[in-house]
Amino acid sequence: MKKILVINGPNINMLGIREPGVYGSVTLADIEKELSSLAKELKIEIEFFQSNHEGEIVEKIQQSLKKVDGIIINPAAFTHTSVAIRDALAAVNIPAIEVHISNVYSREEFRHKSFTAGVCIGQIAGLGIDGYLFALKKLSALLSAAKLSSTH
Ligand code: DQA
Repeated sequence: MKKILVINGPNINMLGIREPGVYGSVTLADIEKELSSLAKELKIEIEFFQSNHEGEIVEKIQQSLKKVDGIIINPAAFTHTSVAIRDALAAVNIPAIEVHISNVYSREEFRHKSFTAGVCIGQIAGLGIDGYLFALKKLSALLSAAKLSSTH
């Protein structure tokens, strides 16, 4: 069974409370529940990780080597700042898709730059919770068609 790791960065644990005008009322638990049921349908093993700490995210990505077949990552604010997370993704070379709940390109200019998207297969932004589900469907299709292989 293929395994996909879903990483959420800082303040994603505050969804539901945090800026509902931007992020809606959906919580991280709702996202994980929907992803879990889709993963079951797709016969994919799924693991969730959320951290507010850059180094913990770097370590989680490093530990995924040889254990995970695909990564869905919303690096949140670290998207716009973190060379370290980008380098970790590049180092493990596990196929990854970047997701943003909001349309970062219609927001402040500092959100228009992603350090991490360039080492991902692609990026989904502005589609809310569906972005995670589309990313899971895409990774699952690519992995089962064996169109993608990581270094392990
Ligand atoms: C976000 C967008 C980021 O700019 C922001 O810092 C977040 C959430 C999103 O999912 O829309 O925390 O990644």
